[in-house]
Amino acid sequence: MSEHFDAAWLALREPVDHAARPGSLVEALCSHWTAAGMGGRRRVVDLGSGTGSNLRYLAPRLARCGEQDWTLVDHDEGLLAQGCAPCAGVVVQLAQADLAAGERVVPRGCDLVTGSALLDLVSRAWLEDLLEGCRAAGAAVLFALSYDGQVHWSDPDPEDSRVLDAVNRHQRGDKGWGAALGPDATTACVQGLQTRGYRVSQAASPWTIDHRRAALGQELVRGWVEAALAVEPERATRLRAWGERRIRALRAGQVTVTVGHQDVLGLPGG
Ligand SMILES: C[S@@+](CC[C@H](N)C(=O)[O-])C[C@H]1O[C@@H](n2cnc3c(N)ncnc32)[C@H](O)[C@@H]1O
Repeated sequence: MSEHFDAAWLALREPVDHAARPGSLVEALCSHWTAAGMGGRRRVVDLGSGTGSNLRYLAPRLARCGEQDWTLVDHDEGLLAQGCAPCAGVVVQLAQADLAAGERVVPRGCDLVTGSALLDLVSRAWLEDLLEGCRAAGAAVLFALSYDGQVHWSDPDPEDSRVLDAVNRHQRGDKGWGAALGPDATTACVQGLQTRGYRVSQAASPWTIDHRRAALGQELVRGWVEAALAVEPERATRLRAWGERRIRALRAGQVTVTVGHQDVLGLPGG
């Protein structure tokens, strides 16, 4: 069963995603392109693009490396339709496709294959196929904001670790691509890139959510309760009570939650 994402949820997370991303990986990509003396336009493919958050983050920051042709790929036509060029020198094409269906998604001559908040949904086999396509094309790889399974509350609750364990088990369920990598996504990506001779950098991109981001925190906690319920339906009362306590405390400014994500950059050519 494919995952569908609400545009309102993606809009809520976008500023927090952008604030969390480490600039160092984009800098390293630009330096690589500059050192390689690559002329012409940069061809970028953004997988699972949603409405284009990754485009809006990356394109302005890559502008000093040249003009860019982006292809946004997503199976959700409604989300995709919101993708448009965020700055001058960028041309955007939209491609509706089910990435899990096994079609080739890395065109020859592609300079960068990227995605944000995607890798934890995919299977190991799909990731391996994708990275093989990237290697064959000689494309750089940049995957941002893969959930790493680490959640820390500033003020612990006795239920936190049990909920997190259930959420992380749910993360590994099938999201339409076979068993999902979930919290193992970054490790699998790093290993897959290194095996193929890429130079790999990894940097943390954690969310920090306090009362100023209570709307995001509330949706996140609700999602966690739903995920934990799917794994442990017999604990419904305790899980719902935990969710209510956490949302109340977040809104009241009594607690902060940090959600771990990782970004990975792979540069081709050893
Ligand atoms: C967590 S959202 C991230 C969206 C966007 N990259 C962002 O950072 O806001 C995951 C995206 O993957 C897309 N997706 C999920 N399964 C897919 C599939 N089988 N084929 C194509 N896109 C898919 C969803 O529609 C959604 O836009």
